[in-house]
Amino acid sequence: MRSNQPQTIYLSDYTVPAYLVDHVDLRFELFEDGARVHSTLSIRRNPESARSDASLSLDGDSLSLQGVSLDGRELQASEYELTDDQLVIADVPDAFQLNVVTWIEPQNNTRLEGLYKSSGMFCTQCEAEGFRCITFFPDRPDVMSRFRTRIEADQTAYPVLLSNGNDVDRGELEGGRHFVTWEDPFPKPCYLFALVAGDLVEKRDTFRTCSGRDIDLRMYVEPRNAAKCEHAMDSLKRSMRWDEEVYGREYDLDIFMIVAVDDFNMGAMENKGLNIFNSSCVLASQETATDAAFQRIEAIVAHEYFHNWSGNRVTCRDWFQLSLKEGFTVFRDSQFSADMGSPTVKRIEDVTLLRTAQFAEDAGPMAHPVRPASYMEISNFYTLTIYEKGAEVVRMIHNLLGSEMFRKGSDLYFERHDGQAVTTDDFVRAMEDASGRDLAQFRLWYEQAGTPVLTVSDEFDEAAGIYRLTIRQDIPDTPGQIDKKPQHIPFALGLLGSHGEPLPLRLAPDDQDAPDERVLELTDAEHTFEFHGVDERPVPSLLRHFSAPVRVQYPWTREQLLFLMSHDPDGFNRWDAGQRLTVDVIQSLVGTPKDTPVEPRLVTAYRHLISDSGLDQALVAKMLQLPSEAYLIELSESADVPAIHEARERVLKHLAIALRDELVACYRRNGESGAYEVTPEAVARRSLRNTALSWLLAINDEEARELAVRQFRGADNMTDHMGALRALVNSDYEDDRTEALATFYEQFQDDPQVVELWFSVQASSDRAGQLPQIRELMAHPAFDWKNPNKVRSVVGAFAGQNLAAFHHADGSGYEFLADQVCRLDDSNPQIAARLVTPLTRWRKFAPAYSASMRAALERIRDKKGLSRDVYEVVHKSLA
Ligand code: ARG
Ligand code: ZN
Repeated sequence: MRSNQPQTIYLSDYTVPAYLVDHVDLRFELFEDGARVHSTLSIRRNPESARSDASLSLDGDSLSLQGVSLDGRELQASEYELTDDQLVIADVPDAFQLNVVTWIEPQNNTRLEGLYKSSGMFCTQCEAEGFRCITFFPDRPDVMSRFRTRIEADQTAYPVLLSNGNDVDRGELEGGRHFVTWEDPFPKPCYLFALVAGDLVEKRDTFRTCSGRDIDLRMYVEPRNAAKCEHAMDSLKRSMRWDEEVYGREYDLDIFMIVAVDDFNMGAMENKGLNIFNSSCVLASQETATDAAFQRIEAIVAHEYFHNWSGNRVTCRDWFQLSLKEGFTVFRDSQFSADMGSPTVKRIEDVTLLRTAQFAEDAGPMAHPVRPASYMEISNFYTLTIYEKGAEVVRMIHNLLGSEMFRKGSDLYFERHDGQAVTTDDFVRAMEDASGRDLAQFRLWYEQAGTPVLTVSDEFDEAAGIYRLTIRQDIPDTPGQIDKKPQHIPFALGLLGSHGEPLPLRLAPDDQDAPDERVLELTDAEHTFEFHGVDERPVPSLLRHFSAPVRVQYPWTREQLLFLMSHDPDGFNRWDAGQRLTVDVIQSLVGTPKDTPVEPRLVTAYRHLISDSGLDQALVAKMLQLPSEAYLIELSESADVPAIHEARERVLKHLAIALRDELVACYRRNGESGAYEVTPEAVARRSLRNTALSWLLAINDEEARELAVRQFRGADNMTDHMGALRALVNSDYEDDRTEALATFYEQFQDDPQVVELWFSVQASSDRAGQLPQIRELMAHPAFDWKNPNKVRSVVGAFAGQNLAAFHHADGSGYEFLADQVCRLDDSNPQIAARLVTPLTRWRKFAPAYSASMRAALERIRDKKGLSRDVYEVVHKSLA
């Protein structure tokens, strides 16, 4: 337990490591009551370090030191100092071998950092600073070493022993024990170290690389999951091929392994040659995983695989550079998913996440730049800003340079920095050097936090035939940053004529063959663009495909939005126009009497979407998703959540009543057709029929109730199973809800991933997820405080998705969350710090709400022995 007040770490304090570790030799003796770790480090002074004193400091956390010797001589206690978090040896030679023996207790490790046990197996999570929970080491990514790892354990309980690289030796030991030795030829930072020991089944496949090498692909899972590996394995092979074709990146080891573990703080981890996954992000079968899960798994498998180049071969100099690997790799996995499915749908999904959650983060107390300048606890910086905004920044470079130059830039980056630990600046420089473009101002995207606001105004000069567009950019103040400089923003747009025809964008009167879409580059605080040869006032289609992560303000009329919804050639903007229209309608109804009329043109627009089967059904499926409560809250100044909830429900029910027959027809038209597939068309079909079902149940439609019960009983896949269950759970049919939940649990109780779905469908429902019911779920035998997925599926789903219940006027939701954060803080601070997020947004809510949210935060702040993780989030939120 850390007692001192947490320290802030600054990027500006960075210095190169004083000592380098060329080689690491590890020997793990694994037992039920603990593990002994023998480490032999080949250390030498770093010639690039300016430090003159000869003391060596190694990081260590929760370690029991059993012995340390230098060049074979055991050191006396007087020759080193052991502090809370370091082992300091006063005087060391320029080059030497250090032997350190530590004792750790993986079976009691509930933080899930370092070496721990998950359903009987040993596994590790070292990023960012978990390796120091295993042995003393300079735990920073710019120290790169070759690792050799010998694992010893009981042969019966742990037949499978894995680490990074290639297995070079194995054998039997006394007492029913055995060992395997692994050697990783690639130097790597210790955060990429991994170890797994367990009784696992192995699934094998192979992949032939572009240069003709055969790679051994292996998945290791618990025996009960043997039938859930195929999708991840196929996704892996597709990722390997794609990275060769699109980025020219070939895999470098002879073996690539994936392991699934149930207890995991995050989604997955890209350890060299040995990726470790949260079970929920890798295991799938038609009967147990939804379409969303299939797509998530494909994306995460790709993400971790892509890290082999963007992260492992070229890694981060320090943790301020985290987006160097995460932003770039998210961009890569997003391109991959777009290529595997529907690019427009993928773009809509990415932007929805960005606008709902990253914009909220960027406007809140934890706002930070893509390359932060300081942090207290690095685990708190695995954020939407680092990942998603970071990916948008890379996407903008891609848009500015074009695919070909971007590829030249990434080739140069990988070639120039292979085997190095580098910075986001090195990445941008490679892009500049390869393309000849100047990205000096563009770098502000890495340095300035906050979401730029673009205010667009226009005027039409009929006599001159000129349409003028003025765009002003403002970047809001964020904690510690005011008066920001204008950023370099690529702004894609088109103009539409009155029949929906794209107009040529003539920036000069004599501009022949002008294109009908342009990417304008904004660099000043304000620009005015003139479009010539325009005969009538056009409708602008702004920020096409969301060409920059900004907010756009323009006084759209509902007429214009309806027009764009059906005419914009950019599918993304068609969707966006629909969202803006629906948001506008809902916002205008918040707090009004129940009988206030709902915009009739909204009904007409949705009728058209539901009935016209000639439209791209994947896009239609997305357009039928009403803007979420979370997004509506993000857009409001002083949110009254119950009122927003009520207005949104009112619109949904109004649409459902008006379009009742069309919805039933849509449901029937999109019935099952043939074998289960996860193609954009099939996913859209299931999405449409389940949306129709949920809308119809929201208005207590008897026929829909029968359809739902029938679908629930007959579903051959989890998307439809869950779609019917969700519709029933969110309906007024209480008996059906109770019965369906019981049947579902009965059927899937042995499958943790499905039980998590069962928890979250209740916790996120305003019918089944009121506070007393949440407490019941937490008392359920399947609930487990030590399993982050269970905590997320109940407590996280309640506070993050069941917004009307969480923001109950009596403040009970906030009190409840504060209790759970305090409870979890002792066992798993990383998860506790994530869970607290909804409370940190207290300034966004109407006064009565924000006061009690603040009080809940203060109660957490005053807890004794608060972890550094929660300390940072709570103190910054209250500042
Ligand atoms: N690098 C992992 C990824 O693929 C995430 C690891 C995060 N770990 C943590 N302790 N925050 O995105
Ligand atoms: Zn990553």
